[in-house]
Amino acid sequence: MLFLFSPGERERCELKEMLEDLQYQMCRQESLIKKLRYQLSVFHKNVLHEKDSMYDNMAYVDRAVVEHIPSDVVVPVIKPEDLSFLVGADVDEDDVLIGKGLFGKVFLRQYQGEAVAVKVPYISEAVRDEDDEMRMVRIKADYARITMEALVNLAFADHPSFPKTLGIVDIEGAPSLILEFLGDKETGMIYSLSQAIKFQIPALSKEHWFLIMMDIIHGLKSMHEKGLLHNDLKANNILLQWQLEDQRWHAFIIDMAKSRLRPFPSGTNRCLRRR
Ligand SMILES: Nc1ncnc2c1ncn2[C@@H]1O[C@H](COP(=O)(O)OP(=O)(O)O)[C@@H](O)[C@H]1O
Ligand SMILES: [Mg+2]
Repeated sequence: MLFLFSPGERERCELKEMLEDLQYQMCRQESLIKKLRYQLSVFHKNVLHEKDSMYDNMAYVDRAVVEHIPSDVVVPVIKPEDLSFLVGADVDEDDVLIGKGLFGKVFLRQYQGEAVAVKVPYISEAVRDEDDEMRMVRIKADYARITMEALVNLAFADHPSFPKTLGIVDIEGAPSLILEFLGDKETGMIYSLSQAIKFQIPALSKEHWFLIMMDIIHGLKSMHEKGLLHNDLKANNILLQWQLEDQRWHAFIIDMAKSRLRPFPSGTNRCLRRR
């Protein structure tokens, strides 16, 4: 039997078939995604969070962020013996711990005559019982995590709203990050935005508040323009430093460890991509 199609009808039928085919493929992909999500949740539950597992406490690294940083951004490796206690600082040498966070401890040191902050990852209790394989896995994970943080910091090396990054250093088997010290170099005092809000330390005039907010906005804008989200922006992760040149407090964004890629609308260029 001969079927005659009216003009355009054949195309309509073909399009309909294509649509049905696409809907079928979408359904299959959705069920595959559901299955993968389920398997991932089982993996997280059974392996990653299992007490004393090799992965317990392990730093997470987003490879996509590392891939995103241009390849000409290189992380300098600094020798531990090139770090010393800060000369002239009125701080107790045994008590040079200047900060603590979720990831690690931060110490005040001197490198090439400059005050620096050294961020050393925590070593969990389980480490005492770890075997060589577990030790290697932990060090590799910390190394990857610190390198990612250093790379993100280095990508903003020329921006005044971020601390300068000097490199990474091995502190007794713990890969650690060395940043410009933000605070009072003589007393070792650090001023966070959180202290300024809660205790007015430092007490800021309206004009200084405005300038500090502008520093934060400029820093964030620059991150977003380069395709990154900070992802952990809070008053504790903003440090304030008095600068003699312009006689004002400046705000610095720290703790880039949770940076992720900013989801881009399709067709938009990503301007930082590592080649
Ligand atoms: N460059 C720096 N200069 C001075 N202090 C710092 C610097 N970086 C971090 N700190 C101090 O160490 C604390 C923890 O550092 P942070 O990078 O936020 O680590 P975490 O990822 O563990 O939260 C900060 O809240 C701050 O008090
Ligand atoms: Mg922090």
